[in-house]
Amino acid sequence: MASYLSERVTRRNFMKGAAAALSSTIIAIRASEASPGSLKAAVRHRGIFFGTAVTSETLKSDPFFRDAVLAECSSLTPELSMKWGAAEPSEGKLDLTAMDEIADFSRSNGLQVYGHTLLWHESIPQWAEAMLRDTPSWQHIRNHIATVMARYGDIVRYWDVVNEPMDTGHRQDGLRDSLFLRAFGSGYIERALRDARVFSPGGKLMINEYGLEYDNREERDRRYLFLKMIEGLKSKDIPLDGIGLQAHLDLRKGTVFELGIKDFLREIEGFGLEVVVTELDVKEADYAAPADERDLAVADESKRYLETVLDSKAVKGVTTWGLSDRYSWLQVTEEELAAYNGAWLDGRGPGLNRGLPLDAMLMPKRMYAAIASTLAK
Ligand code: G3I
Repeated sequence: MASYLSERVTRRNFMKGAAAALSSTIIAIRASEASPGSLKAAVRHRGIFFGTAVTSETLKSDPFFRDAVLAECSSLTPELSMKWGAAEPSEGKLDLTAMDEIADFSRSNGLQVYGHTLLWHESIPQWAEAMLRDTPSWQHIRNHIATVMARYGDIVRYWDVVNEPMDTGHRQDGLRDSLFLRAFGSGYIERALRDARVFSPGGKLMINEYGLEYDNREERDRRYLFLKMIEGLKSKDIPLDGIGLQAHLDLRKGTVFELGIKDFLREIEGFGLEVVVTELDVKEADYAAPADERDLAVADESKRYLETVLDSKAVKGVTTWGLSDRYSWLQVTEEELAAYNGAWLDGRGPGLNRGLPLDAMLMPKRMYAAIASTLAK
């Protein structure tokens, strides 16, 4: 097993009360399964990458987490710092310190960076929101694309040029009624892709989308409308190299729709596009279930999903949205806690959402083993 595990064990020995966190379940899993090696090693034979989303903050402040990231990953996605809202908080004034730190860390450790993201309706700086509303000027967007692509082009191979452009149930074409769309019309996507090609002639230009995994009305529509949108771009020869499947799995929605995903991926392959799983994690449905059942449900769903998508030769990488539950954006909410009134009478509580490969103590869970064994196939 990877070297940082011994450090985890060391840390474990240091940490007060840590023996309790090392539940017998985890020990049993580790003892009963052949050591899978690291996730980046498990995926190597496929010629694809394994990565995770990080912040510069956690890389700097948590050496144990940093070691885990280095041991497991060949690619890092900036969770926050490349987004426009973070990168240019005031007009013309860049704040790329955090992004530079991730880039430098990646350069010195031989990692690639997955470029997330150039255009996202949820990360527009305030000054740019006003500009897009009142005096739309594409030049600001072009500048942002040019700056980021020039600065990190040496380590970024894949770029999420547009993030989450789809939104079902509103427009017939399924495009999100975003500030970008209002300012520049539906052509803003092709405009961004064409500019991105100018500033990164060799980069892989991606559109990253969520909500494509389950068999419900919304996700069926999104799969269909997304494909139609891509068909439109391809018919006009717009530079697009691939799509990102966010893959925020959600046990509250049931299990992933294998047939629907396979059909979707066949169409994507037909367009000659690559695919990256960009933000894999699992939202739990039942926080009151015994710990082992919770971990099993998360692991099963991850395995089902990865087996389904890895069937496609178009998949070039798998990235989780964080590596450890310690830093997951997925939280157990107040509403969820309220729904389990009477549970956890022993006073322990449900802990964190357990939807990432390592738990909060950086110990591998069933999800880790499920991902490792699926990637290794
Ligand atoms: O930095 C401030 C901190 O100073 C403050 O104390 C704290 C109080 O809430 O907020 C901190 O910033 C938050 C940041 O996450 C760090 O936790 C922002 O408000 C919050 O908006 C930001 O959320 C991020 C979100 O994207 C928006 O950028 C999530 O961490 C990040 O996981 C999420 O990632 C997105 C992908 O980019 C696209 N797909 C969905 C995915 C999950 O929402």
